[in-house]
Amino acid sequence: MTDHSLRSFLDACAQRIETALERCLPSERVPPARLHQAMRYAVLDGGKRVRPTLAYATATAIGLAPEQVNGIACAVEMIHGYSLIHDDLPAMDNDDLRRGRPTCHKAFDEATAILAGDALMTQAFLVLCRDEGLPGGPQARLAMLDDLAWASGSRGMAGGQMMDLEAEGREIDLTSLENIHIHKTGALIRASVRMVCRARPDLSPDRAERLDHYAKCLGLAFQIRDDILDIEAPTAILGKTHGKDLAQDKATYPALMGLEAARQAAADLVNEALDSLTPWDGKADPLRWIAGYIAQRNH
Ligand code: IPE
Ligand code: IPE
Ligand code: MG
Ligand code: MG
Ligand code: MG
Repeated sequence: MTDHSLRSFLDACAQRIETALERCLPSERVPPARLHQAMRYAVLDGGKRVRPTLAYATATAIGLAPEQVNGIACAVEMIHGYSLIHDDLPAMDNDDLRRGRPTCHKAFDEATAILAGDALMTQAFLVLCRDEGLPGGPQARLAMLDDLAWASGSRGMAGGQMMDLEAEGREIDLTSLENIHIHKTGALIRASVRMVCRARPDLSPDRAERLDHYAKCLGLAFQIRDDILDIEAPTAILGKTHGKDLAQDKATYPALMGLEAARQAAADLVNEALDSLTPWDGKADPLRWIAGYIAQRNH
């Protein structure tokens, strides 16, 4: 991989998702304007766009044009945006800074932030229901809706967030910690790949399983890296307050096993993800670049 190919792929995906999100978020001029402003504030013009980028890269690997999965990319990014708004609330992680800007409840107020999260979640499902460009037919669309609902709810992201809060200040073992991370972060990352596979019902079960395994490994590696960066990266680069996990006594990989072992765990998972892509030719290169990026990113 060259840095250039990764960077130009990330930039192209970032541009594509920005335009697509802009189109599927309600206008600030439409009432209730304050709610729509908060939704747009939380989602537009920020973030690494890892989940949409994974959706686009998966499309490329399985022979779809990235534009065909814009609806999936928007839906997962809106669920992600909602999860961050709620994650930052005083009742949860109580954070003031996100993507280098005041968190949604700081820029607006708590009630507006809660509602913006609620509305982004439902907007994600609306986009998936209505997007006219989604390939695969009605059965595929239904399967995508099922994937996203499962990945977002109590057996996915929201469940992981509950376990994360319950683990604060407590000693837990590695299996429990892995379970938290797989749910709070891994589930949505996995859905970003799985939903795209639904758009190709003719994809062989072996290929679909391999992509699913890739995404499962990467989702866990992504949260381990997030835990490491909370310790290693300064606030100015991170765009969120440095050292929050330690201050809140969160269950994290570095806290449980130390920084070096956490780094190794993330690297092992990335290698496992890459191994799953063995049968693919160069079409899966963007997925390979993302795997490398996830282990090395600095924010
Ligand atoms: C932050 O996600 C929360 C986690 C699930 C680790 P990202 O690191 O993807 O946040 P943005 O979208 O780039 O800001
Ligand atoms: C958040 O994990 C996961 C979700 C938002 C679902 P963190 O609490 O570690 O994310 P950051 O560090 O605040 O971005
Ligand atoms: Mg959290
Ligand atoms: Mg947090
Ligand atoms: Mg974190």
